[in-house]
Amino acid sequence: MSNILLTGSSRGIGAAIAEALLNAGHQVVGHGTASGVPADFADPSAPDRLWDTALERLDGRIDVLINNAGVFESNPLDSADDAWLSGWERTMQVNLTASAILCRRAVLHWQEVGQEQAPDGRIVNVASRAAYRGDSPAHWHYAASKAGMVAMTKTIARGYAGEGILAFAICPGFTMTGMAEDYLASRGGDKLLADIPLGRVASPEEVAETARWLATDAPASMTGAVIDVNGASYVR
Ligand SMILES: NC(=O)c1ccc[n+]([C@@H]2O[C@H](COP(=O)([O-])OP(=O)(O)OC[C@H]3O[C@@H](n4cnc5c(N)ncnc54)[C@H](OP(=O)(O)O)[C@@H]3O)[C@@H](O)[C@H]2O)c1
Repeated sequence: MSNILLTGSSRGIGAAIAEALLNAGHQVVGHGTASGVPADFADPSAPDRLWDTALERLDGRIDVLINNAGVFESNPLDSADDAWLSGWERTMQVNLTASAILCRRAVLHWQEVGQEQAPDGRIVNVASRAAYRGDSPAHWHYAASKAGMVAMTKTIARGYAGEGILAFAICPGFTMTGMAEDYLASRGGDKLLADIPLGRVASPEEVAETARWLATDAPASMTGAVIDVNGASYVR
C-alpha cells in the first residue's frame, strides 16, 4: 500500500480521487480548506509547508504525489493592466508553481530515501485538455499553466526514470464537479455537449480511476505519458 499526498482533495475530482485511493487501502494525506491539510497555494511558501506536514503524517515516507488542486478563474483581456497581470500570476502560482514546488520536493525526497525504500516514486499531475487545445479568451493563463504542467511532467519523466521516479499527467476535458446545471452554465451551457462525441462530460470518478491507476498500477514504461479523459472532444 502506498503513502500518498493528494492536493485539492476537499471537493470535485480530488474528492473522488481520495475516495478511490482510500477504497484501495492506501494511506492518503489530503489537502484543502474544507478537509485535509489547509494550504493556500497563492502563498509561495505554502506547498513546502504542506509537503513537510504530509511527510510527518506519513511517517517520513511519501510514495506518490498527486497534484490535483487548481483554479479556473476568468481573466478578461479588457481588465485594467495590473488586474490582468495579477490574475495571470495568481493562476500560474496556484496551478503551476505550487505543483512544481511539490514535484521538486518529491524528487529530492526519493533521491534521498533511495530506491531500496521507495522503488518507484510516482507523480501524477492533473493538467487539462486546455494544455493542448487552448481555452477561452479569458483563460490564457489557465491553458498556459496546464501546458506547463504537461511539459514539466515529461521533463521529470525523462530526467529521473533511471532513478525509479515516474511521472504521468492526466488531461481531463469538462468534468462534472458541481451541480450539473450550474456546472454546464459556467462552461457555456448546452453548446459544450455538442462538441463532445461521447455526448456527456466526464464524471469525477472517471478521472479518479485514471489517477488511481497511474498512481499505483500503471507500468513503469508508461512514464512520461499524458492520458486524455475527454469523451473524444479533443483527440491528438
Ligand atoms: N472540472 C473540470 O471540468 C476540469 C477539467 C480539466 C481539468 N480540471 C482540473 O482538475 C483539477 C480539479 O478540478 P475540480 O474541477 O475538481 O476543481 P474544484 O472542484 O474547483 O476543486 C478545486 C480544488 O483545488 C483546491 N484549490 C482551489 N484554490 C486553491 C488555492 N488557492 N490553493 C490551494 N488549493 C486550492 C480546492 O481546495 P479548497 O477546498 O481549499 O478550495 C479544491 O480542493 C484542477 O487542477 C482542474 O484544473 C478540471
